[in-house]
Amino acid sequence: MNSQLGIIGSPHHLLGLDGISVDRLHALLRRAQVFAAGEESPNALAGVAVCTLFFEPSTRTRLSFQLAAQRLGAHILNFDASTSSATKGETDLDTFRTIQAMGVRGFVVRHKADGAVAALAAEAAPGVAVVNAGDGRSEHPTQGLLDMLTLRQAKGEDFSRLKVVIVGDVKHSRVARSDLHALRTLGCSEIRVCGPASLLPDAGTLAGCAVTDDFDAALDGVDAVMMLRLQRERMAEGLVASLDEYHRDYGLTSARLRRAAPEAIVMHPGPMNRGVEITDEVADGSRSRILDQVANGVAVRMAVLEAVLGR
Ligand code: CP
Repeated sequence: MNSQLGIIGSPHHLLGLDGISVDRLHALLRRAQVFAAGEESPNALAGVAVCTLFFEPSTRTRLSFQLAAQRLGAHILNFDASTSSATKGETDLDTFRTIQAMGVRGFVVRHKADGAVAALAAEAAPGVAVVNAGDGRSEHPTQGLLDMLTLRQAKGEDFSRLKVVIVGDVKHSRVARSDLHALRTLGCSEIRVCGPASLLPDAGTLAGCAVTDDFDAALDGVDAVMMLRLQRERMAEGLVASLDEYHRDYGLTSARLRRAAPEAIVMHPGPMNRGVEITDEVADGSRSRILDQVANGVAVRMAVLEAVLGR
């Protein structure tokens, strides 16, 4: 199965950024920038029904997809697993087929299991498009795209001189995986990955990255610091000794941020654990692009929905 976008205007799926071409990536980012600048608001999805099919909680991804679809003129259906017939034992596939039978043409799917979104996409009828809104630890492609748009706005289109560090629980992060695929494809010259050994992924995921457990060293001269959420269940699993210790070693403070390049930006996909991986001062400070990331989420999701469903 081709997991990537088809020809613009031809219904297809977006399941991940692994393997997406550099031309397609640039095209999506350029289109998203048009939407971000408010230069265009086409009615590309007039009369099309789009369902946000979320089997896991979300604030920004679900709402920004809904807003993006609305801005393109689509009808939006919101499926919430906790109030649906999934609670009576209906399978994910039966749920998908049921909603598809209503004439829905676009599905935005989040699921806790790796590969669950691709499994549903494999069952999609002709003309139906599926977009991955985050599956397990695998991928969160629209988060990766909005992160690239935020970097591009701050640092320009040429990533060849960019130094970026991704910090924290990379092992369990679908955001980190999508960011790594996109940064490599866009030719980012130096990708650093930093975290405790217990939270670092396999060597394949880290291919081409400079890897360290020393956060201070990892920050030296970087243009962008991409923080990740510490998933609190990692403490119960014994992967992190305590939140205090994690903050001491991997928390981004104003003092630490001085090691980065003078114009370095700070990013975080949200939701944040304030006082754990990032301080209030940094999260709300002048270097923070965290709310720009949220705003860019709407523009990127407009570009993706238009690409997979537009005529
Ligand atoms: N970044 C992100 O996926 O946030 P939500 O879980 O709120 O959608």
